[in-house]
Amino acid sequence: MKKLRVAIVGTGFIGPVHAEAVRRNPELAELVALAGASKEDAAEAAAKLNVPDFTGDYTELLKRNDIDVVHICTPNYLHYPMVKECLNHGKNVLCEKPLALTADEARELMQLAEKKGLKAAVNYNLRYYPMVQEMRCRNLDRLTGSVFAVQGSYLQDWLQHDNDYSWRMESRLSGKSRAVADIGTHWMDMAQYVTGLRIERVFAQFGRMYDTRKKSAAGKDITFSKGSDKDTSDYISYTVDTEDYAQIMLQFENGVIGNLTVSQVMAGYKNFMEFRQMGTEASLSWDSESPNKIQIGHRDRPNEILMKDPSLLHERPASMSAFPGGHQEGYGDTIKYMIREFYSDLLELRVDGSRADYPTLADGTAEMVLCEAIIESAQKSEWTEVRPVGEVVV
Ligand SMILES: NC(=O)c1ccc[n+]([C@@H]2O[C@H](COP(=O)([O-])OP(=O)(O)OC[C@H]3O[C@@H](n4cnc5c(N)ncnc54)[C@H](O)[C@@H]3O)[C@@H](O)[C@H]2O)c1
Repeated sequence: MKKLRVAIVGTGFIGPVHAEAVRRNPELAELVALAGASKEDAAEAAAKLNVPDFTGDYTELLKRNDIDVVHICTPNYLHYPMVKECLNHGKNVLCEKPLALTADEARELMQLAEKKGLKAAVNYNLRYYPMVQEMRCRNLDRLTGSVFAVQGSYLQDWLQHDNDYSWRMESRLSGKSRAVADIGTHWMDMAQYVTGLRIERVFAQFGRMYDTRKKSAAGKDITFSKGSDKDTSDYISYTVDTEDYAQIMLQFENGVIGNLTVSQVMAGYKNFMEFRQMGTEASLSWDSESPNKIQIGHRDRPNEILMKDPSLLHERPASMSAFPGGHQEGYGDTIKYMIREFYSDLLELRVDGSRADYPTLADGTAEMVLCEAIIESAQKSEWTEVRPVGEVVV
């Protein structure tokens, strides 16, 4: 069988996670090259990850006929130009989230991929926890009745201190929304996927812990590093223009209502993503720090805890569980299965005989449209319509 030949652009946190996940799909693909911000960065990463080829200029990879798919794992502002270049060179693409800095950019990429007949995905990988897939299957089978309302949060604390820094703090590199675009879109993608319902209207409030923060003048800050270990002697102040915190009321299709809280300054919460759903027969609850179980809540009998055990799950989540019940699956596994489904589609295979169900550029564009509606709502302090993905604002 043909194997896909893969290149990864970006060698920071998530690039190496992709490298490992590609290699966990050995029957489908092989990792042949890396591109970094410089030749030195790329060389260092290629040596560490044992990748045969590397470059400091990703466009060199696009000229090669022996590369089928390119993963974009760079800061947000580079997604649009890089995905566009990839598509224009006939490459299939897996782009990290968020897809672009604006909905217009994202829509253009979606239309370009269609025009070129190429396949492209956005890495909303958190859909691929087996128990998240199980909640979707249960909704498709209406096992907990009709969904009435949903609620949840995505909480982190790695920007708690005023000297915590990442390129994500700079809106020119990250986009006009930070917490919502960075982590809120993971939750909204999951909520829409699990319920099968589109978010139609939003009402948002934004909060910021510090209007001014400090960063190293030499640019030596490292994302997710320990605040108290930092040498602050060369720090300079800068103004922050994006949100640390957001609370959003949501109106889904079919009159379903919901709310979401997003924070990157919630001390003690590392990557806590929680989804709860109220149904007419029972409720469903799941969170990312205990991802291998869901609670099925009952009014008239004891609640049930369904542990991840492939023999007890629907066929699709069972096919995304590598290990027997009791052995834990985690964050890295979600990317393995996200990639597996995308590559299977590229190779015209199917994981479980069903249609491919990975997050596409249409899903990535939908998240950008949602972000813009949320920003507008927070600015105007009013309910705001979420326009259909293809609709351009004039
Ligand atoms: N899906 C997820 O769970 C998840 C998790 C973390 C990050 N992300 C996304 O991944 C992207 C990268 O985030 P990160 O945390 O890895 O950031 P990072 O800063 O750790 O890494 C970014 C990398 O891109 C490199 N880079 C910059 N310019 C480049 C260029 N011109 N050519 C090649 N490489 C270049 C940098 O040198 C760095 O190695 C972001 O869009 C982020 O939202 C997604």
